[in-house]
Amino acid sequence: MRKCAALLLLVEVAASSLQLAEETLKFLDCQPGTESCEAEGNLHLLQYRGRRVPADPSPDEAVPAAPAKIPMKGVSYGPSPFTSAQRNKHQDYFCDAAKPLWGDSGRGDLSIIRSLGANTVRLYGNDPELHHAGFLDHARSLGLDVVPGMGDKAFETVQCKGGNFSCSEGVVSAYKKNLENGFLLANRSYHPAIKYFIVVNEPELKLPSLNEPRKFAKAIATAIDGVLTAEEAMGVVGPKPNLTVTFSFASCKRCAQFGDRPGLGQLWTLRHALLHPDKYGIQAKHNLTDFFNTRFTYSFNSGNPSAEIQELFLKYYEEIFPHTPIFVAEYHNPGNPNLQGDLEDILSAAANSSLLLGISFFEFQNRYDQAGHLVWGMFDPQKDPGGKQRLKFEEFEAAVPCLSPIFDAGVRTIAEQLTAAYGGPGITPTRLCLPSPQEVVVSEHGFHQMVGLNNITAMQQFVKRVVEKLGGFVPYVVPKEFAELFLHPQTSYSDLEAMLVGHPQWARWDMFSACTVDRTALESTLGGKIGYVCGQGYADCSKIPDVCKKDVWDTASWVFGSHFREFLYASDETPKPLRHCYLDGAAQFVRSSIWKKSALRHECVVPMGWTDPNKVFITQNGFYHIWSDHDPVAMSIFIQRAVEHTGGKVLSRVPRRFVRHMLGLEASFKSLQALWSSGRLSRSFLGVVCR
Ligand SMILES: *[C@@H]1O[C@H](CO)[C@@H](O)[C@H](O)[C@H]1NC(C)=O
Ligand SMILES: *[C@@H]1O[C@H](CO)[C@@H](O)[C@H](O)[C@H]1NC(C)=O
Ligand SMILES: *[C@@H]1O[C@H](CO)[C@@H](O)[C@H](O)[C@H]1NC(C)=O
Ligand SMILES: *[C@@H]1O[C@H](CO)[C@@H](O)[C@H](O)[C@H]1NC(C)=O
Ligand SMILES: *[C@@H]1O[C@H](CO)[C@@H](O)[C@H](O)[C@H]1NC(C)=O
Ligand SMILES: *[C@@H]1O[C@H](CO)[C@@H](O)[C@H](O)[C@H]1NC(C)=O
Repeated sequence: MRKCAALLLLVEVAASSLQLAEETLKFLDCQPGTESCEAEGNLHLLQYRGRRVPADPSPDEAVPAAPAKIPMKGVSYGPSPFTSAQRNKHQDYFCDAAKPLWGDSGRGDLSIIRSLGANTVRLYGNDPELHHAGFLDHARSLGLDVVPGMGDKAFETVQCKGGNFSCSEGVVSAYKKNLENGFLLANRSYHPAIKYFIVVNEPELKLPSLNEPRKFAKAIATAIDGVLTAEEAMGVVGPKPNLTVTFSFASCKRCAQFGDRPGLGQLWTLRHALLHPDKYGIQAKHNLTDFFNTRFTYSFNSGNPSAEIQELFLKYYEEIFPHTPIFVAEYHNPGNPNLQGDLEDILSAAANSSLLLGISFFEFQNRYDQAGHLVWGMFDPQKDPGGKQRLKFEEFEAAVPCLSPIFDAGVRTIAEQLTAAYGGPGITPTRLCLPSPQEVVVSEHGFHQMVGLNNITAMQQFVKRVVEKLGGFVPYVVPKEFAELFLHPQTSYSDLEAMLVGHPQWARWDMFSACTVDRTALESTLGGKIGYVCGQGYADCSKIPDVCKKDVWDTASWVFGSHFREFLYASDETPKPLRHCYLDGAAQFVRSSIWKKSALRHECVVPMGWTDPNKVFITQNGFYHIWSDHDPVAMSIFIQRAVEHTGGKVLSRVPRRFVRHMLGLEASFKSLQALWSSGRLSRSFLGVVCR
């Protein structure tokens, strides 16, 4: 059974036409009053309440003139099904085999996208061997335009990446297969769902880099020539979609013009190359000047807010490229306190502009595979206990995860805000699952999901997992009053962490907890993390024991553990497991019963253990650590060091009575210092003498 958020994503949008109301009903897969509609309770009826409009509006309610232009309202779609870090070679999610994700008999992603109010899907990954007609047909039937892109493999030829950046060869053969495998209809005209084709995504960052504009310009121009050659070879008839190249928003300092403006230098360079191919060593079969003037659209990716895009970019773009339309192929300013307003602003700029076509919201869902982005998605893929559908790709098989809507550092989901900006009818909640306190990542991101849920039980369960990450465990339950504190949208994950580091009584804490490597991390990332941690200088990486050098997991475990343990001694700051033992998921803080059962060599695990009185700082914090261990020997050493620290000398043993006093509830570093400066210590009732 999926846990469903009743009405979670309902957005009250007044329909402005009967057509919208009808469309709404279509998304709901039911007809009002029919059995299928009632079957799901009154959810659906609520869905279109307030949206149904009279069949013929009275004249004074006449709908205002429609805006001249409906902007592109896209969603960027690359739904990897992994729910934890995984190596993943499969990137094509619009192939037939991905139908359990995008098809209505499966998770229904395309219908979800449509019900957000989107009119376009932008894609990633493209394996030319795979068939794509099913996806295109389904998108078309829902009224969605599709913007596929070329897969990276087409550029992996010697002539291109390894050679002189002549990239047509690989592109011709890849694109011919695309055309055969669904991009063309039987009569050799383009599938009507294809709106644009992205010849290459962010070429200036990979072919080979921003520092070599002439090379990336040549690579792009020859790739475009390759697409045109493939179309010719396949005898394409009828209208053809524009081609686009999606640039980053980076400044191209080495570009001959506009190097100081984000995005503009690379755009200028490409146009210059297409208009003057001979100047770039480009030998093209086609007239690229002609192509630029008739079939080229620009696009770019950006994480900036609307106002910045307009101020830093569009203003200038419109002057420099007055005849070439452009769209934002990845648009999302994550963490924006008013995401909906920001989206509405850029859409209204698009509606007003003769060149800005619109945006594609980045992105449909977070990615836990190695592409790894967790701040952009509007959904989290989550293990679906009730899910029966499976995906079968050549590279892997996986269960279809359910989608849980992401709360954006507040109480509204991203999907809700996008739906409001795009003007969609909203998602049928039964299609979604709620973020599960047992499944969300134990991180700031997971915390926000729980705050958004506003469910005390769920927060209690989540806090329990956080305590475990901190090396403790909760024998009973996390107190309700404690969990409740954190349901307030203004509380933060660091507040929670700070309270837990104070070791509340309702949890048990284990002295032999250790920061170790997280076995679910990607092995390929460990080398980098080890280097990074060693570079910080807390762990002495010249001392890695030989037994821990044989296996990278053991090496990582020793390095992360030593780093974490030495942190206090090197910085006088109490190490915080969630911050100092995380390393993007490569490290985790676990209690001893857990690491003792793991496959790690025990010699390579470095537990926290008792605080070393010979190494802590002589400060309030150092005192506190010794005091909380409640060990008289350690306290006696600390007192001795404290005396020496201020130029005194301990002539004989620190008396036991004084040590006990300093371990008492009332004791503090201040009281130790006060005794010291009052001179009472020198009167030797403690057997301590000052110089
Ligand atoms: C090809 O077929 C489609 C659908 O069957 C039709 O809409 C289109 O006009 C045809 N194209 C040409 C160029 O004949
Ligand atoms: C460089 O690219 C051109 C096509 O632009 C090709 O004809 C030539 O053989 C390539 N040269 C080398 C050394 O690969
Ligand atoms: C390419 O087409 C343009 C017109 O768009 C024309 O002016 C130009 O001469 C053509 N270039 C070549 C090399 O044929
Ligand atoms: C295709 O490109 C041409 C040339 O830039 C442009 O005039 C036209 O508006 C573009 N069409 C679309 C749908 O972007
Ligand atoms: C778009 O045009 C309308 C009417 O001219 C104006 O009120 C609005 O401020 C403009 N929006 C933007 C973002 O430029
Ligand atoms: C609150 O969360 C718990 C635990 O996940 C769940 O069992 C319960 O149904 C939720 N309550 C509501 C009202 O959603």
